Amino acid sequence: MRILELRLPHATCRVVIGPLTPIRGPALIVCDRKVSRVARRLARGAPVLSIPSGESRKSVSLLAALWNEFARRGVDRRTTIAAVGGGVVGDLVGFAAATYLRGVPLVQVPTTLLAQVDAAIGGKTAINLAAGKNLAGAFYQPREVRIDPAALRTLPARHYRTGLAEVVKYGVIRDAELFELLERKADRVLARDPKTMQEIIHRCVRIKLEVVRRDERESGLRMILNYGHTVGHALERASNFRLSHGEAVAIGMHAEARIARGLGLCGTKFVERQARLLERFGLPTRVPRLGGILRAMAHDKKRLGRAIRFVLPRGVGRMAFPVAVARRRIDAVLS
Ligand SMILES: NC(=O)c1ccc[n+]([C@@H]2O[C@H](COP(=O)([O-])OP(=O)(O)OC[C@H]3O[C@@H](n4cnc5c(N)ncnc54)[C@H](O)[C@@H]3O)[C@@H](O)[C@H]2O)c1
Ligand SMILES: [Zn+2]
Repeated sequence: MRILELRLPHATCRVVIGPLTPIRGPALIVCDRKVSRVARRLARGAPVLSIPSGESRKSVSLLAALWNEFARRGVDRRTTIAAVGGGVVGDLVGFAAATYLRGVPLVQVPTTLLAQVDAAIGGKTAINLAAGKNLAGAFYQPREVRIDPAALRTLPARHYRTGLAEVVKYGVIRDAELFELLERKADRVLARDPKTMQEIIHRCVRIKLEVVRRDERESGLRMILNYGHTVGHALERASNFRLSHGEAVAIGMHAEARIARGLGLCGTKFVERQARLLERFGLPTRVPRLGGILRAMAHDKKRLGRAIRFVLPRGVGRMAFPVAVARRRIDAVLS
């Protein structure tokens, strides 16, 4: 078992990585229907409310249904709300807990790799509106995040790969040893070996916590977490979400690495090494033929006149940011 802690002026969050133990005290467990077995292991008699899965559940109507359910069940400030599932449940239930009675104790129990290394860490919660994703939400730190790598066993392969794209990202932005570990133990990573994954998740979470501790509200450093995402988000949108988040981010990291090489920030060896690892994990690196990628990128809030701001690699574990890149350079790697 590994334990990490995030201490902020207004809150402390403990992250426990290892086998799950039951939640103590009065609690209400809200879980993704697909992981009700995990939820029951946590419950020890506490009620479990299961909700259907899917991005469409991050909605105003399900949020309101949760608030009403909290009221009906007499949830008060001593009741712990546990969110068991991927980023969808974490974001939705996290926002419900952040706002019900102006905040009730929250424990995140992420069950996808993406949520274990990213969504459940850092205190961002949100729902989607018709006008766009994650438009209504709050910064709200959970008391605890409980990560059980064994819960990944049942995760569909495509979702597992999405998490691996983020894991590779952490290696590139901050941790050369993590990157080497991934190269060395790729087989065990692909086999989802819990011991190997515990070590890897621990390293990723440590990085995310360090970044959040230094920049909780995203004014500077937190931007490095966006590596691969400027191109990635545009690809997701331009593909009409046929590309998964992880696939888009993997292609995005390769494209952004090539932009960095074009600017003389890194060399071909780095670009190829990163591509090899992504491909080893079954992730794509080639930009598919899609219209409107640049247009989708100009949507991005990091737009800066005719140039777009990027976080770019100098090598494994070393980043340059923000770097304003002219559109013709971006165009060149996208076509
Ligand atoms: N708050 C943040 O900082 C943050 C960061 C990144 C992403 N997000 C959000 O996270 C969401 C995506 O999260 P996600 O990729 O975890 O998606 P998800 O929650 O939809 O989970 C993916 C799929 O896996 C299923 N599932 C979950 N755990 C399982 C398990 N152990 N076994 C079998 N099936 C399982 C779910 O039912 C779902 O079908 C998006 O809404 C995104 O906006 C939030
Ligand atoms: Zn991401």
